[in-house]
Amino acid sequence: MDTAIRKVCVIGAGVMGAGIAAHVANAGVPVLLLDIAKDGPDRDAVAKGAVARMLKTDPAPFMSKSAAKLVETGNIDDHLDRIAECDWIVEAIVERLDIKQSLYARIEALKRPGTAVSSNTSTIPLDHLVAGRSEGFRADFLITHFFNPPRYMRLIEIVRGKDTDPAVAGRVEDFVDRNLGKRIVRAKDTPGFIANRIGTYWLAVAINAAMDLGLTVEQADQIGGRPMGVPKTGIFGLVDLVGIDLMPLLSKSLTATLPQGDPYFDTVRPMPLVDKMIAEGFTGRKGKGGFYRFDKATRTKYA
Ligand code: NAI
Repeated sequence: MDTAIRKVCVIGAGVMGAGIAAHVANAGVPVLLLDIAKDGPDRDAVAKGAVARMLKTDPAPFMSKSAAKLVETGNIDDHLDRIAECDWIVEAIVERLDIKQSLYARIEALKRPGTAVSSNTSTIPLDHLVAGRSEGFRADFLITHFFNPPRYMRLIEIVRGKDTDPAVAGRVEDFVDRNLGKRIVRAKDTPGFIANRIGTYWLAVAINAAMDLGLTVEQADQIGGRPMGVPKTGIFGLVDLVGIDLMPLLSKSLTATLPQGDPYFDTVRPMPLVDKMIAEGFTGRKGKGGFYRFDKATRTKYA
């Protein structure tokens, strides 16, 4: 069987999916980027819009304009059957177990046997993602957790499930290493894996402390940016980059999966300001802005 990865499908053209698609294209590999179908004349508008935005984003997700031409856009209602053309399917949709599971049921019916499927989930254990799927699907499934922004962050966490076929995972790991230039850390199938098990904890502690102390975001980032290893954006700037709307989803996912008594529960508390920001579209760089204001054209933080 020819097992080379020659074409990739990325499903979910948000912050991460769009960036992952761009980086696969940077490696010279064609990508099919799908998102939900939009009502109206252009049903592919969500994925198309993501590619157009990336051409203006700083730092640039694409290495060249010709890389951008390798990304073909579509929607999951009209084009999901085209996953049969692809050798690796990356799921990067909203961090909700129910929505991811229903997408996998559709993928299972359409993909070729042996085609790898991976999730970019931040927190959801692989065992939960594949519940109800066939043996064949489970053998082809793994987690590839990229970091934001996908072109620039060298780390990737990879989780193999107890049923993952080592040959399938090995093919993806090889591609990620050689073609995408990532350094792989293999993580166990636990809630939040390694990075978000620690990362969500310190983000919540830092944000809670800043609010309790009445610090401005600039003051908080001056104190908690460089010393905590996030010199470029600071902590609030990192939340803006990641997407403020992801925070409650991560929190819900972790509280549903971590064992009772885990110290993470001490960090979870209502954040009316964050709820209001999300409701009004201030979801960070991808939205109208976040804790910091942004230049709309380039989505970079104002100096
Ligand atoms: P996002 O909210 O920016 O984008 C999600 C995209 O998925 C949206 O464009 C949405 O329209 C689409 N979508 C939702 N349901 C869909 C469906 N059924 N079929 C096709 N498309 C669908 O989300 P983001 O931040 O890109 O997160 C995606 C995944 O990556 C999540 O699992 C998240 O936990 C993970 N992640 C996020 C990181 C970040 O920095 N934002 C970092 C690493 C992982």
